[in-house]
Amino acid sequence: MKRLPWLISKSFSTGNPPPPLFIGSPLSCSNHALAMSPTNGKKLRFPENFLWGTATSTTQIEGHIQNEWTDFTARDGSDCRVACDNYHRYAEDIEWMSKLGVNAYRFGIEWSRLQSAPFAPLNQSELARYVDLIDRLLAANITPMVVLHHFSNPPWINAAGGWTNPSVVAAFVDYLGKLVRVLSQKVYLWNTFNEPDTYACLAYLLGGFPPQLKWKLNHFRRVIRHMALAHEQASDIIRRESHAGRELQVGIAKNWTFFHACKRFSPWDRLSAFACHYTFNKFVLDAFLGGARSRASTFIGLNYYGRVRFHHFNPMIPASGAPVTRLKDFGFDCDDMVERYPEGLGKILPYLQRKFRLPLYITEHGAASADETFRERDLRSNLTALHHAMTRGADVRGFFYWSLLDNFEWQFGYSKKFGLLSVDFGDADLPRRMKPLGEIYRTICFEKSLPDGESMLR
Ligand code: FCB
Repeated sequence: MKRLPWLISKSFSTGNPPPPLFIGSPLSCSNHALAMSPTNGKKLRFPENFLWGTATSTTQIEGHIQNEWTDFTARDGSDCRVACDNYHRYAEDIEWMSKLGVNAYRFGIEWSRLQSAPFAPLNQSELARYVDLIDRLLAANITPMVVLHHFSNPPWINAAGGWTNPSVVAAFVDYLGKLVRVLSQKVYLWNTFNEPDTYACLAYLLGGFPPQLKWKLNHFRRVIRHMALAHEQASDIIRRESHAGRELQVGIAKNWTFFHACKRFSPWDRLSAFACHYTFNKFVLDAFLGGARSRASTFIGLNYYGRVRFHHFNPMIPASGAPVTRLKDFGFDCDDMVERYPEGLGKILPYLQRKFRLPLYITEHGAASADETFRERDLRSNLTALHHAMTRGADVRGFFYWSLLDNFEWQFGYSKKFGLLSVDFGDADLPRRMKPLGEIYRTICFEKSLPDGESMLR
């Protein structure tokens, strides 16, 4: 059997139709949704106060980091030691964001920089760098959304068994408490965990992420349970703080991939899809948002890329080794990672809205490809699906394009090009350049709407 994909999550079942669309209620249908004009025939207009953002993570862009990725060699032979050198160039990258016209930025704060031991005081010079970054964002009218955990831990956490060890929960909550007290007046939006399902799966089931263990289902479950407990405790602390008189907002970012069988009547492929759904979607959502934990979060972040279909147990996606061109011959529309499935966005948003009745953010969506026409088509079709879901009541407050820069894509190294900006990794200066999709996203951000029809590529 080939390796399962890099992304986890699912469809509601093995290819069955999703639950019925939820039409807004007073809870779901915020002013955001109501303020939208569906379309004027030329443009899909989004609410005035919608966040148009872009997203990154520490390990993927900063460089000069000491975590479990420092000594990791990706499949293309590369590592993250310098990455995009955003550690030194964050001011320049914020200038690029202003050129892009984004009004929000979702980025990580690297725990390993701030604490050298459990319960230690925060490293003041590293903290000052993040404070400066945030101040520059605020000065540029860019709303920060901070991510606390994005696939990396301090070395002393890893040495203690990572998130399989229950004592990590108290250490994380201590760290978060110290950080939030410093930043609460500057940062309103807090993301505790990015894709806990992807992290636990790749680290403990598929061996793609450090510590590269395989088929340790108990480890997977323990990691999710501990992270969910840490999320609950961290959320309590975050919600107790206020920002300009408003309660701080907190949520996780849940990856959602639809898992389907290629052939409706293939019991084994349906079973594979169902197993993925059950493990990565149902179990994870229940852990973070079920029962008493439903009150921990004030929003849900959704990372949405697309779909994985199984054929004779094989996930038919480029991330698992299937060539894009061959998949195309079979009728699969893929970027360099997974199958595109914009219809799925129109299904999952109403589902989450109805089930949890919380505001939503698309905390990640993007496509990796050298073909900018493809990426434009992907962005348009997903924004169209998003707009449609919003006109039907989904209370979505923002969209963060993955990613600002071409960057270190974990086990794939620098081979996957997700950036709105390119980075020339062959040049020691790592120059950034606006890509055609960056220009298109810029128009969307400035106009707060998606121009209808023709491609904007010239
Ligand atoms: C998401 C991750 C992000 C990046 C994109 C392509 O699953 O959160 O770091 O790898 O996929």
